[in-house]
Amino acid sequence: MSTQLATGLGVRRLLAAAGQAPSVLNTQPWRFHVAREDCVELHADRDRRLRVSDPRGRSQHVSCGAALFNLRLAVRTSGRRPMVFLLPDPGQEPDLLAAVRVGATLPVSAGQRELYDLIPVRRTSRLPFFDRRIPHEVMAELRLAAAREGAGLAWLDRHGTLDTLGYAALAEDELARDHDYRAELAAWTMPGARYDGVPGYVHGPHALRDPSPVRDFGRQDGESRFEARPQLAVLTTMGDGPVDWLRAGQALQRVLLVATKYGLSASFLNQPLDLRDMRHRRDPHHRRGHPQMIIRLGYGPYVARSPRRPVMELAQA
Ligand SMILES: Cc1cc2nc3c(=O)[nH]c(=O)nc-3n(C[C@H](O)[C@H](O)[C@H](O)COP(=O)(O)O)c2cc1C
Repeated sequence: MSTQLATGLGVRRLLAAAGQAPSVLNTQPWRFHVAREDCVELHADRDRRLRVSDPRGRSQHVSCGAALFNLRLAVRTSGRRPMVFLLPDPGQEPDLLAAVRVGATLPVSAGQRELYDLIPVRRTSRLPFFDRRIPHEVMAELRLAAAREGAGLAWLDRHGTLDTLGYAALAEDELARDHDYRAELAAWTMPGARYDGVPGYVHGPHALRDPSPVRDFGRQDGESRFEARPQLAVLTTMGDGPVDWLRAGQALQRVLLVATKYGLSASFLNQPLDLRDMRHRRDPHHRRGHPQMIIRLGYGPYVARSPRRPVMELAQA
């Protein structure tokens, strides 16, 4: 056997990295299958799809794309070139999202190793951030990180930020009136020790001022003053189909790992995108493309880690 995949340890290392990825409501909607001694398949787990808020499977694909980026990085830092085939068999197997073949040996760069080491450090923070601006060079590097994965990262100016916070608040109000949405959200935000879902200890406080720069999961404790000028960026793709969503997910994870390198924290305000998907609305045509994630970035305090499923549960026979 020619590759590290041949050992249980090799597979465990790859799946451990993939499983740390961010996912919508921490559903971890993925499964992996070691297809051959040199190939791992990434599958969408239909049982973990959000039927109400994600009818197209867009958020599921974005989440799986983030896991795919970690998987690529794990292969790459084992000294091999990952060869990725997106949706290798869309007609017969639409849930087979990617096949990753472990290719030829290739030296690992310090930058790749650094990003890999940051996988367990990255986490979503819904706490208030400090009133400190992100330097322009860092913003540019994050834009480049998205571009390297075929996506765009548009930083919003003051007006764009205020508009977007307003849209998010309106979307949240509309979502809160939807019984099925509320039931789905409640199912994935239940308190108690679990391996998935968004536990209460990461919900963060309510914002003292409206509109809030963090999403309301309905179980926030207390109220706090958030940063006076939230810094938002929108991750975009030119198309809006499954391959674009997988690209968006890989770009998201690269952006988040580079942000972590610079000591930045991130949270998300995807309520307007969820509402768009739920109501089957089409995006207005925009030269920047289709919004896939609305990201809030800034400097903030350390936060606890959300739970994950045991690694070997992610592998299917
Ligand atoms: C496609 C997608 C959509 C998300 N939407 C939101 C959101 O609207 N609000 C939010 O606070 N977090 C959002 N998240 C973050 C997840 O809730 C988070 O990744 C998950 O709970 C795991 O926690 P971690 O990122 O700390 O590992 C989203 C993540 C993904 C991948």
